[in-house]
Amino acid sequence: MRVDVLLFLVFACCVRPSSSCSCFPTHVQTSICQADYAIKATILSVQDSEDFTLRYNVTVEMNFKTGQPTPSSVISIFTTNNSALCGVYFSVGETYLIVGNIVNGEYRTNLCFWNIIFSDLSDFQMFALKRRIYVNNCDCEIYQCFGLECQSEADCIVPPEQTYCYY
Ligand SMILES: *[C@@H]1O[C@H](CO)[C@@H](O)[C@H](O)[C@H]1NC(C)=O
Ligand SMILES: *[C@@H]1O[C@H](CO)[C@@H](O)[C@H](O)[C@H]1NC(C)=O
Repeated sequence: MRVDVLLFLVFACCVRPSSSCSCFPTHVQTSICQADYAIKATILSVQDSEDFTLRYNVTVEMNFKTGQPTPSSVISIFTTNNSALCGVYFSVGETYLIVGNIVNGEYRTNLCFWNIIFSDLSDFQMFALKRRIYVNNCDCEIYQCFGLECQSEADCIVPPEQTYCYY
């Protein structure tokens, strides 16, 4: 079967209609490994930017991945203004783990990344972020498994959760 037909079938069966945002569920480690930045940040303000885009100004408190953005700097993070377009809603004054990509020099994020109120992270997740356990283990891919179809012995440092296999 041709690859494009196969892809079509995969998407036809598994992805919701294009009017809503669809993301495959990812583990926090996978999200951070795929991202350009992962920070702890407090939301200062939100304003309309270009069409369909919100600009969140945030104070960076910690950086868990790279040197940029630097802690205590204020940066703008852009997301679409609609959750159906995968826009993320942040509350002003709240502190989050914010994960995303840098596109044309702009920090961007969307619902497919692991954005979460920072205090809702588990103790292990905070520990793993601060000790760089996730970013230092990006070679260890974490696959979603369905039912009992986990295929291999666990050798990752991250403790198992119900729906994930650890290789
Ligand atoms: C999103 O932005 C568009 C264009 O800037 C605007 O027409 C629309 O009302 C906005 N939607 C929301 C939910 O704010
Ligand atoms: C957000 O930061 C940008 C860049 O510093 C600034 O131009 C903009 O006025 C700020 N927005 C708010 C609402 O403070």
